[in-house]
Amino acid sequence: MKVNQSMDTAEPTNIVIFGATGDLTKRKLIPALVRMIDCGLVHTDSRIIGVIRSNTHDEWLQLIRDGLGEYSPRVAIDDAGWQVFAARVKSVSGDLSDQKTYEDISTALEPLGGKKNAMFYCAIPPAWYGRVASGLSNAGLISEVEGYRRLVIEKPFGMDLESAHALNQELLSVCDEKQIYRIDHYLGKESVQNLLVYRFANSIMEPLWNRNYIDSVQISAAETLGIEYRADYYEHSGALRDMIQSHLMQLMTLVAMEPPVEFTADAVRDEKMKVLRAVHRISPDEVDKLTVASQYAAGTINDESVPAYVSEEGVSPDSSTETFAAVRFEIDNWRWEGVPFILWSGKRMNKKVSEVLIRFRKPPFNLFDSHASVPHANSLVFRLQPDGGVALRLNAKKPGLTTDNETLVMRAPYADDEEEVADAYEVLMHDVLIGDETLFSRSDEVEESWTLVEPILQAWKNRVSIARYRAGTWSVPDMDKLCADCVGGWHLPS
Ligand code: BG6
Repeated sequence: MKVNQSMDTAEPTNIVIFGATGDLTKRKLIPALVRMIDCGLVHTDSRIIGVIRSNTHDEWLQLIRDGLGEYSPRVAIDDAGWQVFAARVKSVSGDLSDQKTYEDISTALEPLGGKKNAMFYCAIPPAWYGRVASGLSNAGLISEVEGYRRLVIEKPFGMDLESAHALNQELLSVCDEKQIYRIDHYLGKESVQNLLVYRFANSIMEPLWNRNYIDSVQISAAETLGIEYRADYYEHSGALRDMIQSHLMQLMTLVAMEPPVEFTADAVRDEKMKVLRAVHRISPDEVDKLTVASQYAAGTINDESVPAYVSEEGVSPDSSTETFAAVRFEIDNWRWEGVPFILWSGKRMNKKVSEVLIRFRKPPFNLFDSHASVPHANSLVFRLQPDGGVALRLNAKKPGLTTDNETLVMRAPYADDEEEVADAYEVLMHDVLIGDETLFSRSDEVEESWTLVEPILQAWKNRVSIARYRAGTWSVPDMDKLCADCVGGWHLPS
């Protein structure tokens, strides 16, 4: 990871992880912390405190060390390095429903550099967020008298508007909004921040960034993975909640927002909120026309056969949960009126790739039509992953004695060495440690985005059957229809 001179350094902190034996901790949090320590992004006096239940401290340490080898080959750590890391780690054993656990955490917090700063990371099922927040509060751990106290929570922030509102109320009854860090790991991707820099650090972008030049925007996240071991969650969630309401709507706000007055948390989040408020509310009778839902059937990915969604472990054989969802939003404001924003995401597709496509209007007429093929509309693609970068598609003359044209793609990779790109969790945990909330969602944003998908959830609630696409393909019924009036139609990531 590249560490810039200008980066803020974090104060020594007690990093408390709830769900310390869980999957997120093993796959993401510990590898991120190991790299951050290695790069000096975590103050050397900081401590990591895992909240564990049935394991001993040594068993837990072994679990996370094994996890490093299994999930994060790029985080190389030898025995000596591990000893240094392990010396900073301790654990508190207890049940989250028992207040004593929180009293024990309070005792375990160390005064570091004269303060008892603490980050509480909830890597636990969302049903526990409220209980943990109140347990911490009752143990006096939310009060900031002895140091800062920050609570990190993961999506899903509710399963609909009502539950998101209830969760916000519950958290806000004990914490201040400024203490709550709602992680959307898409915003931690460096290539997503690159999109912001392209928009706001290049003066050639702004004059084109509006309805006069842009025909449509498509924001996509295709995955080859299925639902893995998460049928319980996914059966209730589906692709609309899992990807669109969260990650992709966040990306939409970044593409569509006005330039903020400064790059600070509230200035950026205020602009994102204005976008959400301007989005056309989809009415129940528009749902069919403006959305697509589909589910993967059995197929082949990378030469391997994969089962249908309904044959996955834990999935009901007659499930109509969508593993692919698309929504066509329109933003009713001065800049974007009439420009469709098509957000789509699917599991078990042909490739893993996430992109933001800005498709420009067609040239007004073809000056070269006596000889040439018709020039394509220009497009600008922000590839978020894999191999983040930007590609601009232009038309250029074909070598030869005619004015025939061909497509030319100018590519700007984000990084020469992908290994140097920080993982989203490294970026976001560092932001928590330095108290920068710019890349975290505020409660009003979360509720507003639920408001926008609520009519779709209602319309899909009683669905008894669903269209299907073959795993490993892009053949999703109705996507061409949804994008029919966009120049170039449905854009398949290349
Ligand atoms: C998570 C979703 O938020 O994002 C998963 O719950 C999905 O279902 C994942 O697979 C995708 O993240 P990424 O970073 O691999 O695109």
